Amino acid sequence: MAALLFAAAPLYALDNGVARTPPMGWNSWNKFACDVSEKLVRGAAESIVSTGMKDAGYEYVVIDDCWQVSRDPQGNIVPDAKRFPSGLKALGDYIHSKGLKFGIYSDAGNGTCQNRPGSRGYEYQDARQYAAWGVDYLKYDWCNHYDTQDARSSYETMRDALAKSRRPILFSICEWGSTKPWLWAGNVGNMWRTTLDVKDIWDGKDKDRGVLQIVDMQDGLESYAGPGHWNDPDMLEVGNGGMTDTEYRSHFSLWCLLAAPLIAGNDLEHMSDATKAILTNKEVIAVDQDPAGMQAKRVRKTGGLEVWVKKMSDGSRAVGLLNRTESEAEITAQWADLGLSEQTQAAVRDLWAHETVGTHQGSYSVKVPSHGTVVIQVMPAVALIR
Ligand code: GLA
Repeated sequence: MAALLFAAAPLYALDNGVARTPPMGWNSWNKFACDVSEKLVRGAAESIVSTGMKDAGYEYVVIDDCWQVSRDPQGNIVPDAKRFPSGLKALGDYIHSKGLKFGIYSDAGNGTCQNRPGSRGYEYQDARQYAAWGVDYLKYDWCNHYDTQDARSSYETMRDALAKSRRPILFSICEWGSTKPWLWAGNVGNMWRTTLDVKDIWDGKDKDRGVLQIVDMQDGLESYAGPGHWNDPDMLEVGNGGMTDTEYRSHFSLWCLLAAPLIAGNDLEHMSDATKAILTNKEVIAVDQDPAGMQAKRVRKTGGLEVWVKKMSDGSRAVGLLNRTESEAEITAQWADLGLSEQTQAAVRDLWAHETVGTHQGSYSVKVPSHGTVVIQVMPAVALIR
């Protein structure tokens, strides 16, 4: 059975030892954009510990764009001294002292998306500098590249530069899916963005990328994800104010089913209890972090009612029942759609209600609120795979 479960994983993966399960952490961009400082980042690290997020698995604290201002005459990248007066080595040490890991951001072009210096032509020098600061994670963007610049070779150059630094640094490719990185990045990065930036909205309709549009774009990419190399549908917007708690619960549920990196992007110091409960639901996080690293597949789509299935390493199935419609609706998980025989007796656990809802044969039906996602784990008494 294990052979069947692992069969879809690509034969190659970046051999840097990290991201064996989808990375978890926090990034400054979605909430704070360019308003980054050592005070903010230290505060985020403290909150990850005090809110229980560290205990739930979050470990990377990532400064996104705008920490850098220039290069010195030797070409060394210079951090903003007003916003980071103690320097990045001290900040990295502080993050490490909390038992967390330190992430940073740069760009494969000449400039970042906010027109700070990019790494093109400075890849080895920057990688050496990051390693000296104790960096554990690099998010690498794709703004300000030449029209003729090749994405794959640009990311390979930074991969090789990071390897040369001799520090295991998780490599997060952020070229927005433009050249279908899932086809080439398995041995280049540990994760790759599959789309342009997510917005803090549920449904962007035809114009925008809300949660629903991003989710639709993941359908069909499931065979490319696996330990060490993940599809990245972008960072979480949970708690940023543009969606209801039900919608945020759906957003988080779907990212976990998709084995997506879980990079929180909200104000951790001032989050509501509801936001904290979503981000720290250990039963749903365990779906994301399952060691087999399978990504959920959409197996049914009837009007606005959908069923997403993720095979777990123990033979159980994590199932997302998503209601995109404007009213409550009953959704059924059919065992046949889960790859289980109709005769299978399975215990069903509701991972948001935190309760086992009985043993069922053939199917399980449940009422799902409008814009909600019920996540169940279907645990066959004896796993019968079709
Ligand atoms: C791009 C990336 C975002 C963020 C910004 C920073 O848009 O996709 O995630 O890093 O740049 O400028």
